[in-house]
This record gives sequence, structure tokens and C-alpha cells, in this order.
Amino acid sequence: MHNEYELLDSGDGRKLERFGGVVLSRPCEQALWLKDRPELWPTASACFDREGGWQAQLDAEMPTSWVASINGIALKLGLTPAGHVGVFPETRSLWDWITDTLRATPRDDISVLNLFAYSGGATLAAARAGCSVCHLDASKSMVLRARENAELNGMEEAPIRWIIEDVNKFLDREIRRGRRYDAIMLDPPSFGRGVRGEQYKLDKHLVATLQKCKTLLSENPAFMLLTSHTRGTTPEQLEGLLRDLLGSPGHTVSGEMELTGAAEVRRVPSGSWARWTRP
Ligand SMILES: C[S@@+](CC[C@H](N)C(=O)[O-])C[C@H]1O[C@@H](n2cnc3c(N)ncnc32)[C@H](O)[C@@H]1O
Repeated sequence: MHNEYELLDSGDGRKLERFGGVVLSRPCEQALWLKDRPELWPTASACFDREGGWQAQLDAEMPTSWVASINGIALKLGLTPAGHVGVFPETRSLWDWITDTLRATPRDDISVLNLFAYSGGATLAAARAGCSVCHLDASKSMVLRARENAELNGMEEAPIRWIIEDVNKFLDREIRRGRRYDAIMLDPPSFGRGVRGEQYKLDKHLVATLQKCKTLLSENPAFMLLTSHTRGTTPEQLEGLLRDLLGSPGHTVSGEMELTGAAEVRRVPSGSWARWTRP
């Protein structure tokens, strides 16, 4: 699949990444080691620091908005005041798994729910497998961005419901309506806010959210995929949560999300994933 993202190097608490034609240097507290390729770092177009925000490198023009294809999904990118760019590239190998797993599911009417769906990478990974998707995020600007990304991929007519809502309010409503989904993916933040300022705290709300998701699973579900960027959350913890929730029959596996580049580039751990699949 066409890919224009790569991790170029990391070290000294920073990461150097290429998104299409734009190279960025950003903080990365996991990068405890020394830089392997210090000579590459002056190629960055812009650098982010928590104190000073984004700064263009000498002679480089500050990138504003551009498009990069990441594992076959075109995404509109831009620099945010928090140091983000509009994609979490450590999730890209999961997008491939989502597409492959849904394509291999022997049914053609699969409905997928994507919670905390951000700029839509996982939504589009499911939509390109021909599934109908419900994409939910509390941030209006992120849902607009995800819709733009669907257009960039020629999927503006794809069966995607775009919902701007607080996650738990939405789940309660879907349960009351008796809706069911064949696959559910969720990437809850450590702390977030719903549309009307509702607080979402991973440590306080995750188990209840997962129980609501279980209620919404169809009789013959394909999978549940849980990811987390919260510090201290391990693959085993997430896997245990899914095993407790869904158990057997089913298969639960977990692993680390990683930023990756060329084979010789040191991988940077960036969160955890766990998934439950029906045998
Ligand atoms: C960690 S990001 C998700 C990243 C995304 N899944 C990806 O990998 O590209 C968390 C998202 O959750 C959303 N969010 C936070 N609190 C929420 C809430 N209470 N209800 C719905 N969405 C919420 C934020 O707007 C943000 O887009």
C-alpha cells in the first residue's frame, strides 16, 4: 500500500518523522536513547517545543496544510498548537489489519462503530473494505477533518454516519434504540471532553464504556479493537480487559503500537493495542 510516512530517527527525547514532503521534529519522551542519525535532523522543516510551539528551521518554509498518503489512506495534515499533525502514525499497521480482517469476513453487510475516531484513519480503513461505518468524535472540527479525508480518498459517498457526540451519551442512546454493530474500535484518551463539556477519564469510565460496547455487539461479531496512548497502560492490561469482557468463544491478543521507518531505524513504542476476534 502506498505509504508516505516514515520515522527517520529518534533520541534525546525527540522524534524525526517524514509525512509526505514534510519532515518534522517533535518531543518524544519514550526516546531515552541518543540519536542514531544526528546528521538528518537539520532536514526538518519545522520543530515543536512545548514552550515555544512550532518554529520553522532556518531557510525552511513553515508547512501549513498538506496531504500525505499513509498506508494507502490520504490524509489532510497541518500543525496544531498542541504539536499534533492530524494523524497518529503508530496506528497505521492496525489500519491494514482492520481492512484485511473485514475483507476476509464472509459477509457483505458488516457495520462498524469507531469511537474517539479523530481524523478517520480507522474509519476509512473499514470503509475501504466495503463496510458501513459509524464514526463518532466529540470534536466538530475533527469530524469535519475526517469528512475531508473521506473526500480525499474518493469515499464521500461511502456509507459512513458522521456523529459529533459524547461517547457515553451516544452509546446509551444506541442501546435504547436496539442498534447492533459487527465490529467496534475505540481509542479512548487519558482525559477528554464531550460536546457539552462532559468529562471522560480513562481510569474512571473505560470499563463502563466497554460494557456498553459489549451490549452493542451483534450476535456474530467480527472483532473489538481497543487502543490506548495513556502512559503506563500496557498491552496485557488492555488484553485482560477484553478477555474479562468478551471471553470465549473468541481469541484475544495484544501488542505495542510503534512508530516505524526503514528496517534499520530503531522503532519507537507509542502505546498499546488489544483485540478480540471471533474464531
Ligand atoms: C487519542 S484521540 C484518538 C486518535 C485516533 N483514534 C487515531 O488513532 O487517529 C482521542 C479523540 O477522542 C475525542 N474525545 C475525547 N473525549 C471524548 C468524548 N467524551 N466523547 C467523544 N469523543 C471524545 C477527541 O476529540 C479526540 O479526537
